[in-house]
Amino acid sequence: MSLLGPGEDTFTPIRWVDGALELLDQRQLPVDETWVRCGHWRAVADAIRDMVVRGAPAIGIAAAYGLALAAAEDSEGDLGEAFAGLAATRPTAVNLFWALDRLQCVSAPGPDRAERLLAEAQRIHGEDLMMCQRMGAHGAPLLPEGARVLTHCNAGALATGGHGTALGIIRSAHAMGRISQVLADETRPFLQGARLTAWELHRDGIPVRVITDNMAAHFMGQGMVDAVVVGTDRIAANGDVANKIGTYGLAILAHHHGLPFIVAGPTSTIDLQTPDGAAIPIEQRPDREVTHVGSTRLVPEAVGVYNPAFDVTPAGLVTAIVTEQGVLRPPFEAGLAAHVAAASAQRETTD
Ligand code: MRU
Repeated sequence: MSLLGPGEDTFTPIRWVDGALELLDQRQLPVDETWVRCGHWRAVADAIRDMVVRGAPAIGIAAAYGLALAAAEDSEGDLGEAFAGLAATRPTAVNLFWALDRLQCVSAPGPDRAERLLAEAQRIHGEDLMMCQRMGAHGAPLLPEGARVLTHCNAGALATGGHGTALGIIRSAHAMGRISQVLADETRPFLQGARLTAWELHRDGIPVRVITDNMAAHFMGQGMVDAVVVGTDRIAANGDVANKIGTYGLAILAHHHGLPFIVAGPTSTIDLQTPDGAAIPIEQRPDREVTHVGSTRLVPEAVGVYNPAFDVTPAGLVTAIVTEQGVLRPPFEAGLAAHVAAASAQRETTD
């Protein structure tokens, strides 16, 4: 299988092949490694909504390629429908809107519009890999020698342009010989930990064991966890962090057990327009993800369920936020604002 992405030491779940976007179908992992080919922006929007591709940075990258597909169809027309259709797929990960904004800046009508948009999508894709590698370099030294790390959901190469955010830190720390074991929460209901994190860490030879979500307290209590490292879908201006449902509980557990709770995300995940976690929109996913596993019904038909896809961890429970620019410690406000300002200044110099 050709999983090599723009970097050499990792793989990417997103590739552009002969004028179409191909996505590694994450619904089928770990059993099948199949690719979904999207030749139209609507197919990309469906793929994002249906979790063929998922993870905050990967969603943004896929949406950017989706717009390039829309532009390839029409060099002069209004791309508003494609922008709106892609933006309406998943509400919590701010990287989606950040990527669409970047494409908007180069989307003026003209004969070369499709090439411009494709080039920008490829730039976002390549930059994301580089940012993950930098996050890895900044974050790995935060872990002790021989660290036993607990992670939640999948914030790995599968969720990014490659390498990963939380798993980027773990990958880099493993390359430095600092990791003795990763505990991967299975992450009900979509099982990103059991299916995806376990798949990609095992693939890279990083020692991983899967635990069910309700085992985390037990293993912390047994002294078998040295740190919790997670990704994020949106960081509010005050440092409150949205991530996969269950993250908040882990942060409370880490605090109780005196363990570092480390959050990793590129600067594109910081949303200074959102003052705090209460203002972060939380996606509600279909009931079926909770009521069923595969085709097997778990919940009686007459019984309702809740399925919020994310929760918010208050900044006060976060030990460190790692971006591609470095490590932020509480209080986070000034540092987050500085990272956003530096990233904007950097973009202005490169444009
Ligand atoms: O619903 P998902 O699978 O898209 O949720 C993913 C997460 O919560 C990740 O932790 C987050 O997007 C960070 S990915 C680098």
